[in-house]
Amino acid sequence: MKRIAIFASGSGSNAEKISAYFSDRTDVEVSLILTNNPQAGVIARARKLHIPVLVFDRKTFYESERILEILKNNNIDLIVLAGFMMLIPTYLVNGFENKMVNIHPALLPKYGGKGMYGSFVHEAVVAAKEKESGITIHFVNEHYDEGNIIFQTSCEVLPTDTADDVANKIHVLEHAHFPQVIDQLISQA
Ligand code: GAR
Repeated sequence: MKRIAIFASGSGSNAEKISAYFSDRTDVEVSLILTNNPQAGVIARARKLHIPVLVFDRKTFYESERILEILKNNNIDLIVLAGFMMLIPTYLVNGFENKMVNIHPALLPKYGGKGMYGSFVHEAVVAAKEKESGITIHFVNEHYDEGNIIFQTSCEVLPTDTADDVANKIHVLEHAHFPQVIDQLISQA
């Protein structure tokens, strides 16, 4: 059995789609969902799916290696960042080299980096009058949104689209592709 841990800071719609995708499988499972945000919607979604949730604080994440210990104790094979908004500390990058992936709601290297997350990305795309946006799934290193790219796909941005419209299109792409890309990666993990 291959074991996935998902980190999420917000609503958790991607975490839910990924968990549902693997729920009938006997060879892969989402074993743990971790969040830095005690108010995150992902917590209720995880409970509904009967997946254990761990809420941790900033100090634990950056000033100890407790999270790495927990992941190792749970025999995690792949970490998935699904709307996780904190920079990954070095000890965790090193502990899961090429075994940690992130999804970014734009076509990197455009609209990436510190401060470029969630709705800020879509607002910047609309403000720049881009004709397309998309999603990027990439390996995680110590810099925001800079690891090697695994998968990208795009969608049209219309002149009339608001940032919310773009966010909705991006979520459709994420939900359709992220679980399948993870499925391919986990078979090699
Ligand atoms: C997703 O669109 C994801 O790409 C983005 O946050 C959203 C989370 O949605 N991630 C980032 O911006 C990371 N830099 P969700 O909580 O509904 O899955």
